[in-house]
Amino acid sequence: MKAVRMHAHGGPGVLVLEDVPDPVPAAGEVLVAIKAASVNAADWKVRSGISPVPLVFPHILGRDFSGVVETAGPDTDMERGTEVYAVCPPGMEGGYAEKISIGAQYVARKPENLSHVEAAAIGLAALTALVTIEDTLKLKRGEKILIQGGAGGVAGMAIQLAHHLGAEVVTTARAENHAYVRGLGADQVIDYTEEDPAVLVGDCDAAFDTVGGACIAQSFAVLTPGGRAAFIAGGADAPIPPREDVTALRPAVNRSRALMDRVTAYVEAGILRLPEITTMPLSAAVHAHELSEAKHVRGKLVFDIGD
Ligand SMILES: NC(=O)c1ccc[n+]([C@@H]2O[C@H](COP(=O)([O-])OP(=O)(O)OC[C@H]3O[C@@H](n4cnc5c(N)ncnc54)[C@H](OP(=O)(O)O)[C@@H]3O)[C@@H](O)[C@H]2O)c1
Repeated sequence: MKAVRMHAHGGPGVLVLEDVPDPVPAAGEVLVAIKAASVNAADWKVRSGISPVPLVFPHILGRDFSGVVETAGPDTDMERGTEVYAVCPPGMEGGYAEKISIGAQYVARKPENLSHVEAAAIGLAALTALVTIEDTLKLKRGEKILIQGGAGGVAGMAIQLAHHLGAEVVTTARAENHAYVRGLGADQVIDYTEEDPAVLVGDCDAAFDTVGGACIAQSFAVLTPGGRAAFIAGGADAPIPPREDVTALRPAVNRSRALMDRVTAYVEAGILRLPEITTMPLSAAVHAHELSEAKHVRGKLVFDIGD
């Protein structure tokens, strides 16, 4: 099969499209013919080495993919031909390839109303948004939330979920992305290049920071007493709050079929809609990483791996 592999940490140029042996499913695994795989910010962090994920080289990157079960190994409950999507656990080889062997417990039925490219685009972004908004922040109807980085993959899903739950949604984005994030359900959009959310907003019950860095202080400052803020862009721990009357949370984004089925239910009900999707072939992996690392992709980049 073809796969994009890295033989060492480094810049985007370490990604090489190569011919590699097909993976062989072990007990409990399925072999999936991958039709599409998405590019996540996590990928360039792992590639560069700033993410402390131990790797065995050569390594195939990628977290989420969509495809068709080609072989169901022993001790699996899936059938050959089933259309599936999944998010791989950290450290495991991923979706930048034509095939993958993965534990059946991570693999879920693909949403019926999505193509493979669309399902791959939804995967990790929707899973992270779901776990953060519903399970970590426990956002409620009538609450107000600041979502930092509205035009990105995770934030785009989080805006939709928060809006669906009946929250008032404030988000940050460059001016050219304002119509896009309003279309996802944002009630108020702040151009972070011109204005400071910490000055404009001070009455949020919750904040979801998908950007980190200078945004962290803003995400704490916008909270009312008792407010809670969730952080996913930094390390494994949430930052320490600069004030005692708010809570900082680090979502535990586990991978499982049950979690993907919750995403699927929202997608098939029309509650979670598609992000803007830019497709590329696997051979454009270096360019995809250059774009992702520049941090201004709107929506999602997806490798269309096809037949
Ligand atoms: N399990 C986990 O913990 C987990 C899971 C998924 C992602 N993550 C992390 O979460 C972060 C977001 O991931 P992602 O895939 O959603 O990223 P992404 O799609 O690459 O985010 C890109 C977006 O960030 C926006 N942005 C950049 N700088 C900004 C700023 N200063 N203020 C506001 N928006 C800004 C850009 O919009 P503009 O062009 O408008 O600036 C762009 O649309 C990453 O650090 C990723 O590693 C963690």
